[in-house]
Amino acid sequence: MTLLIPFVLVAYVLLYAFAFSIPPLPPVSTFLGAGYDRHAQKPLTETLDAWLEREERIALDKLLANVSPGGRNVAGAIKGSVIASPSREHPNYFYQWVRDAAITTSTLVDVYADDPSSKLSSELSAILDEYTHLQHSLQHTNNPSGSFDDLSGLGEPKFEADGSPFVGSWGRPQRDGPALRAITLMAYLRAYNSSHPTLWTSGSGDDWFASLYNPSLPANSIIKADLEYVSHFWNQSGFDLWEEVEGLHFFTAMVQLRAMREGSDLALAFGDKGAAQWYTKQAKQLEEFMPQFWDQGKAHLVETLGSSRTGLDCGLLLGSLHGYPSADASHTPVYAPSSDEILVSLLALVEDQRTRFPINAAPSSEQEHGLQGVGLGRYPEDVYDGYGNDKRGGNPWFLCTASAAQVLYNTAENLVLATNLTISSTALPFYEALMSSSSLDPRPDTTYGLSDAMFHSVLERLKSTGDEFMEVVKTHTDAQGSLSEQFDRVTGYERGARDLTWSYGAFLQALRARKRVL
Ligand SMILES: *[C@@H]1O[C@H](CO)[C@@H](O)[C@H](O)[C@H]1NC(C)=O
Ligand SMILES: *[C@@H]1O[C@H](CO)[C@@H](O)[C@H](O)[C@H]1NC(C)=O
Ligand SMILES: *[C@@H]1O[C@H](CO)[C@@H](O)[C@H](O)[C@H]1NC(C)=O
Repeated sequence: MTLLIPFVLVAYVLLYAFAFSIPPLPPVSTFLGAGYDRHAQKPLTETLDAWLEREERIALDKLLANVSPGGRNVAGAIKGSVIASPSREHPNYFYQWVRDAAITTSTLVDVYADDPSSKLSSELSAILDEYTHLQHSLQHTNNPSGSFDDLSGLGEPKFEADGSPFVGSWGRPQRDGPALRAITLMAYLRAYNSSHPTLWTSGSGDDWFASLYNPSLPANSIIKADLEYVSHFWNQSGFDLWEEVEGLHFFTAMVQLRAMREGSDLALAFGDKGAAQWYTKQAKQLEEFMPQFWDQGKAHLVETLGSSRTGLDCGLLLGSLHGYPSADASHTPVYAPSSDEILVSLLALVEDQRTRFPINAAPSSEQEHGLQGVGLGRYPEDVYDGYGNDKRGGNPWFLCTASAAQVLYNTAENLVLATNLTISSTALPFYEALMSSSSLDPRPDTTYGLSDAMFHSVLERLKSTGDEFMEVVKTHTDAQGSLSEQFDRVTGYERGARDLTWSYGAFLQALRARKRVL
């Protein structure tokens, strides 16, 4: 997430050397010596359900601690900012990233939308309004990516916590930020509008709406500015969500596609017909572009086009989850979490990470084959260990592990809604792995309905495998319920930036998906 660029350039050169010469890992027993107990100080017997209920409150509290106004970890940060982590050194994450802030704020919007009239929501509303105002000023802040005049400045990935530009060298521009911010603000606008029924008709909310979307004053419309940026720059290369590789990326393209689709609907709602057509046209082109990320030879999606990496990446899961939310019934699915391509890519990533990290061979995952919950890191070639680089490789991340759970819960939810399951030959490896401990044998090109045992068994396994990933999160969370960025591939203890805002957001999103399906 935050590798320094000089390091990145070196790492970039070395990366491929490591990728193909990962040292063989010693046997697991070497690591699990006497005294090894990552449950230290935690109630060993707490069920997953009980822990999830407890951790939900802790995660929301600790997420809000990193948000201004009101957060206890944000002294010196400007109102409306979301810092990535309170850690100011080793590593210094005390900045606001446009991506991280938009993603975690979208979690707050979801909580707000649950019940806009609750006491919590009125507190959230104050935060969301400050976030909105600050985004306007960040958009207009000249920065090393450029300025507002030609929109180039919107590609700037991070700002100082006080709202001033970050001027150090960095992997810029990053073109996912404006798309994610537009998605978050559009969700807030929809939730706000639906809970203020008189706003639209009485005109009393014109100023509020106009600051978000005003066809005749694009420079003052936060959402429209971001949509314009996405529509004009989506097919130009930029840095990936991990800020390391320049190119065209699956995660970025998926959130750009969603922004263009929802942006077109929003433009229409404001009578901005020309813009609606323009955004729809870009969305169509993005839809046609997306299949380039499917690698038929590898039989999985790749995160970056033309990269010499494997392409397996947690960004595939995140792109799917943020690009095609399961709640979206109004647009044709493109690489939705339940799609064949995402599911087989998840399987391939899990198979890689299971053998790469010693903790994944711990007793909780006895099976050699099949799909089971493991700690997932960002991508196989990763060498960032949370503080610097380690040529032996990276570690599992909380947000990636939680995202795997969310993909499985979303797939289960989708199955419940569809009331039938068709297993294609593309998806067969995933369903075989999912059902490997069952006596049932999934067959390709077969549709299973409510009267088939296969349908119900697959549904159960999707939920229980999702729970296995959440169980991994539980195992490595400390006694206070804090989630850092990573957990150590050997000892299992937390490492990297403490209290990573995105870790809490990803956990809460996975939990919401679980509640919808249970
Ligand atoms: C706000 O809600 C009203 C009433 O449901 C609807 O007609 C209008 O299109 C909504 N506006 C936006 C911008 O979504
Ligand atoms: C971007 O779009 C332009 C105009 O349609 C096209 O000429 C160019 O090839 C595209 N670039 C990429 C990388 O797709
Ligand atoms: C499966 O379910 C979908 C959605 O409910 C429906 O459109 C489709 O016709 C069903 N297919 C079969 C083969 O039953």
